Amino acid sequence: MPEAHDAVEVIVAKRDKQELSDGQIDWVIDAYVRAVVADEQMSSLAMAILLNGMNRREISRWTAAMIASGKRMDFSSLSLPTADKHSTGGVGDKITLPLVPLVAACGVAVPQLSGRALGHTGGTLDKLESIPGWRAALSNDEMMRQLENVGAVICAAGEGLAPADRKLYALRDVTGTVESIALIASSIMSKKIAEGTGALVLDVKVGSGAFMKDVVAARELARTMVDLGQDAGVNTVALLTNMATPLGLTAGNALEVRESVEVLAGGGPPDVVELTLVLAREMLSAAGRGDVDPADALEDGRAMDVWRRLVSAQGGDPSASLPVAKETHQIRAPGSGVLTKLDALQVGIAAWRLGAGRSRKEDQVQAGAGIEMHAKPGAVLRAGDALMTLHTDTPERFDRAIDALEGAYFIAPEGSRPDLLPLVIERITVTGED
Ligand code: URA
Repeated sequence: MPEAHDAVEVIVAKRDKQELSDGQIDWVIDAYVRAVVADEQMSSLAMAILLNGMNRREISRWTAAMIASGKRMDFSSLSLPTADKHSTGGVGDKITLPLVPLVAACGVAVPQLSGRALGHTGGTLDKLESIPGWRAALSNDEMMRQLENVGAVICAAGEGLAPADRKLYALRDVTGTVESIALIASSIMSKKIAEGTGALVLDVKVGSGAFMKDVVAARELARTMVDLGQDAGVNTVALLTNMATPLGLTAGNALEVRESVEVLAGGGPPDVVELTLVLAREMLSAAGRGDVDPADALEDGRAMDVWRRLVSAQGGDPSASLPVAKETHQIRAPGSGVLTKLDALQVGIAAWRLGAGRSRKEDQVQAGAGIEMHAKPGAVLRAGDALMTLHTDTPERFDRAIDALEGAYFIAPEGSRPDLLPLVIERITVTGED
C-alpha cells in the first residue's frame, strides 16, 4: 500500500509555520513507529514543532495518535472511582509515596504508573526499590487485583503504553527538542490518558529544580495539559507548585522513603505534609469524593495501613530497615544569620553525583545515597551549625557533590527574610472555568 503522506511534506509544512492536518499527524506518528519515518526526519519535525509550536487541535490530535500507537488500560470494572497524580518532577519530590495510600484510604483507587530517575530529578520507582523485596513490574491482572484489594498500586508502565512516546522521547532527549510545551504536554498526557484514570491532578513544578523555570511557561504547560485531559474525558486540574528549593528535608532514594513514612506516621516536614494534603484534596474532589477530609486518614493511621499493604502486595517488607549509605560528610554553616536560599537544582545535582540518580538509563542507583538537609530557607543559623549531610557508598564522589553545592545556599544577616514564592502558586482548571 502506498503511504498516505510523505515525511518531507510534513516537515516542510511545520517548518513553514503551517498547521498540520489530522491526517498528517496520524500518519507521521504511525509511520514513525513503523520506522517508515526515520529518526532524522522525526528529529527535524520535532525541532520545527519546538520552534513554531502547535495549536490546541494539533496537540490534541498528536496526543490521540500517540495513545493509538499502543494499548489503553481500562479500570471501569473496578468498584471504586480512580484518580491519579503526575508531577513534572523536582528535587526531594517524594509526594507520591504518602499521597497514593492516603487517597486510597479515603475510598478512591490510585493506579499510579511511575518512572525512574534520569538526571537531577528523582524517580518514584527507584525510591520504592530501596525497600527490600519491593518490585515495580506488575502484570495488568496483578494491577487490577491489587487495585480492588488494596486500592493503590505504584508500578512501572508496561511497554505497550504509548510506544510512540517512548520512541519519540528518547529521540528528543538527544536532539535538543525536549523543551517544547506542545511535545512535553502530549508526551505526559498520552501516557496518563492511556493509563485509563478517571481523574487526574497535575503537579507542575516551577523553579530552578523544575523543567519550567518560570511561572509563565509553567502556566502554559499546565493549561495545555488540563485542556488535553478534558478533551479526552479525564477530569483534570493542575497546581503550579514551588520547586525553587527542595521539598522536605531529604533528596535520595531510601532517605525519601524514610521521610515519607514519617509523614504517614503523622510527622514529617511541614511542606511535604501540606503538599500531600493539598494534592489529596484535589484528587478526591476530581474523583467526586470532595466530601472526605484526607487529614483524618493521615492522623488515624488508615493511610499508613494502606502503605504497608501496598508495599507487601508488591513483595516488599514494610518493617525492614532501609539501606543506609556507608559514608557521610557534613556541610556546616560558614556564618551566623538567616538561610535565605537553598537551591533545588544544585541540591538535586549534588544528590545525583553522590549516586542517587543516573546519567544513562542502564546506570544503577545507590539506595542510600543522597542529601539530608538540616535547615530550610527561613531558618536561623549559628556559624558551625549542620546545614546538610551528604550520603554515599563511594566517598570519591564527595568532591564533585560539594562542587555542585558551590553557591547553592546563602546566609543573610539576622532579621532578613527569604524571598520565596508560596508552596502552591496557582490552580489551573479547564479553559473558561477559573
Ligand atoms: N516527562 C515526560 O513524560 N515527557 C516529557 O516530554 C517531559 C517530561
